Amino acid sequence: MKKTKIFIFSEKIKMEKIVEEYSKKLEKLGIEHSFVKHPPLKEVADIMRHLGLPLSDGFSTLVMKADDQYVVVIRRDDCRLDYKKIKKILHASNLRIAEEAEFEKMTGLKSGAAHVLIPNFKIFLDKRLFEKEYLLGGCGTFEYSCRYKTTDLQKIPNSQVDSLTQEGGIIASEISQTGTILTGITPSGSGHAHIGNYSGAVEQFIKLQQKAQKAYFFIADLHALTTIQNKEELQRNVESQVLNYLALGIDPEKVIFYRQSDIPTHTELQSILNNVTPLGLIKRCHAYKDKLQKNEDEENINMGLFSYPVLMAADILLYDVDYVPVGDDQKQHIEITRDVADYFNKKFGETFKLPKGHLTKILVGTEGQRKMSKGLGNVINIFEDEAIIKKQVMNCFTDPTRKTATDPGHVEGNPVFMYHDLINDNKEEVKDLKERYQKGTVGDVEVKEKLYAALMKKFQKERARYEELKKNPDKIKKILAEGAAKARSQATKKMMEVREKIGITNKYSSFSY
Ligand code: TRP
Repeated sequence: MKKTKIFIFSEKIKMEKIVEEYSKKLEKLGIEHSFVKHPPLKEVADIMRHLGLPLSDGFSTLVMKADDQYVVVIRRDDCRLDYKKIKKILHASNLRIAEEAEFEKMTGLKSGAAHVLIPNFKIFLDKRLFEKEYLLGGCGTFEYSCRYKTTDLQKIPNSQVDSLTQEGGIIASEISQTGTILTGITPSGSGHAHIGNYSGAVEQFIKLQQKAQKAYFFIADLHALTTIQNKEELQRNVESQVLNYLALGIDPEKVIFYRQSDIPTHTELQSILNNVTPLGLIKRCHAYKDKLQKNEDEENINMGLFSYPVLMAADILLYDVDYVPVGDDQKQHIEITRDVADYFNKKFGETFKLPKGHLTKILVGTEGQRKMSKGLGNVINIFEDEAIIKKQVMNCFTDPTRKTATDPGHVEGNPVFMYHDLINDNKEEVKDLKERYQKGTVGDVEVKEKLYAALMKKFQKERARYEELKKNPDKIKKILAEGAAKARSQATKKMMEVREKIGITNKYSSFSY
């Protein structure tokens, strides 16, 4: 007993010394900083969660191997590296993140406890670091993080600023190998999908579906009940959403595609998880808080909405999921899922895998202000009649500071160009349009007409598939039935394990699903 205590004590002194010396070095360089103490944590996501900060408030120091040289890249934790850009900057043809052993050998630091002063390396700072005034990063030990003044990071010897991360896709962590992915769509809107539904989570999911070991995609019809309480409306919404996502490219050969309500264990698990979920955790949820602010009356908020994150946790935890592609408005729900899984595991023993969010940006609507959503009427549809889509495109807001086509215009934050980036696969054309727009040698009409043409080209296959599927309800029914059978088999296996762990089973039990 005594021995251990002394050991911990001397370790502590050693650690504080490391931090002190590091602090002196930073001071010498004029880098403003302060330290934050926390329990020994290795994963950035865990540190940020412990401190109650979003991932976008932290950065990581990565060692990368480019051909046969090593470089250091510092990027914000919610930003995804753009390998193409980095290769171009380094004139390298191969690029990868160093393995733990390589990292430790090159830096003399433990992997997960990097700091920013790594001599003998070229250090690249991603320009998106500077969007924040202060950021949290490593300082050489697992028990402290350091809060750096971001602009001062440029004083790191041998460093240079460059654009190293992707413009659109922001994710929680680099995905090195894709295990099981899962996502759900709430059928709260009816009718045709729009490009906002497609971009982000769905686009990511479609990209990952073939690579994933296992992929689940479901229509969260029980979640829709929080707002839709009309039989015909719910039926219509679910039918159109199923059609939309199959047409968009969810591959039922590879993906387990099902309806949430076909697997009753989702609600059973929700009921059990309710008991390990602190009330305070859910009260802090934005879904509930937003409603509270709007209605200012708890009488108008149903328990379904309040407990929405717990059902979502159940949706995910039944399937041993590694990654959940979701829009960044769902980030909080993924964090809650991890918390709830953690509480359960601590109480009843390891049962649930903690999933990672695979976050994607929410697309702005055609008025350039708010999230694209049907309710706000700021959408561009995918499966509508051509004339309607054309009208939606032509009505898009562009750059409000530009009066005539000969004025130089702004590309950044301009919805029409965001859509071009998303939809137009002819990158040369997009580049040309952007250049001419900034010079004032192209009009809004041409930019929009090209966007419309790109849209039609991009979704030609999907639109044809949509018409085909619509004529074939039996085929869809079969897909959903097969999906439900496969999902049910995994979900009930997990549920049996849960029943076992919590002690619902006993010597008189004979229950099976
Ligand atoms: N809440 C998600 C949304 O509105 C939908 C959803 C329900 C979901 N359960 C899920 C997404 C599980 C991912 C995983 O977009």
